[in-house]
Amino acid sequence: MKPRIYTPEEIGKIKVSARLVGDTLAEVAKMIAPGVRTIELDRRAETFIRANGAIPACKGYEGFPFTLCISVNEVVVHGFPSERELKEGDIVSVDCVVEKDGYFGDSAYTFMVGNVEEPVRNLLEATKASLYKGIAQAKAGMRTGDIGHAVQSYVEARGYGVVRELCGHGVGSRMHEKPDVLNYGNMGSGTLLKEGMVIAIEPMITLGKRNIGIARNDWEVYTLDGKPAAHFEHSVAITASEAEILSSFDKVEQVIKNK
Ligand code: MF3
Ligand code: CO
Repeated sequence: MKPRIYTPEEIGKIKVSARLVGDTLAEVAKMIAPGVRTIELDRRAETFIRANGAIPACKGYEGFPFTLCISVNEVVVHGFPSERELKEGDIVSVDCVVEKDGYFGDSAYTFMVGNVEEPVRNLLEATKASLYKGIAQAKAGMRTGDIGHAVQSYVEARGYGVVRELCGHGVGSRMHEKPDVLNYGNMGSGTLLKEGMVIAIEPMITLGKRNIGIARNDWEVYTLDGKPAAHFEHSVAITASEAEILSSFDKVEQVIKNK
């Protein structure tokens, strides 16, 4: 399938879904604290999404059993919510996709639980900054490789690793569409970006080596060296000028600031 081109009206609907993901992550942010079980975050998110007339799109997607992917410390992405209690010093990546009115929004944020040691705090800062470096390249006439190159050069210059086995993607009438949006690569390579495309950019960055394994549940991705990894994701629309960021961290960061 070729990348889809969306009308402004359709992009408005993708934005409604993407903003609902941001609202959901803000609800989760309110609960994040030592002693909370990650399954409780998942239950809250599912209730909140359904109360807003939307569908938790990960639940049942290729057999994934939950509303949220919740990935703690060395789990990079696709973590299963569980009875595990969060503890001071953990980091927790929460990835959420909703479908509303036939359109999907996708966004992820990595949270700190209480005080986190400085190297890990810096990893989160750099991963989020690399997402915005990628978004700055997401314009009509640029290519997906320009995004990947921007992410990779930013994080590798700081000594971090880029997970290669997973990538960003087109998003809109389905959760995963063309093009693939790699977090590494060469300038001028990959798919040409055009006005009306909508993509999810989602760097997955490691504190140690970039190598990963997949757990026996066939989902959870973890770092082989056991060091932490971070994941931030926005859904963005390609326009003639700067990308329009359809998801938002504003509410999440408001909650974090007021803690
Ligand atoms: N939200 C993830 C992504 O960024 C997808 C999770 S896979 C699922 O693409 F099975 F959990 F849906
Ligand atoms: Co995604």
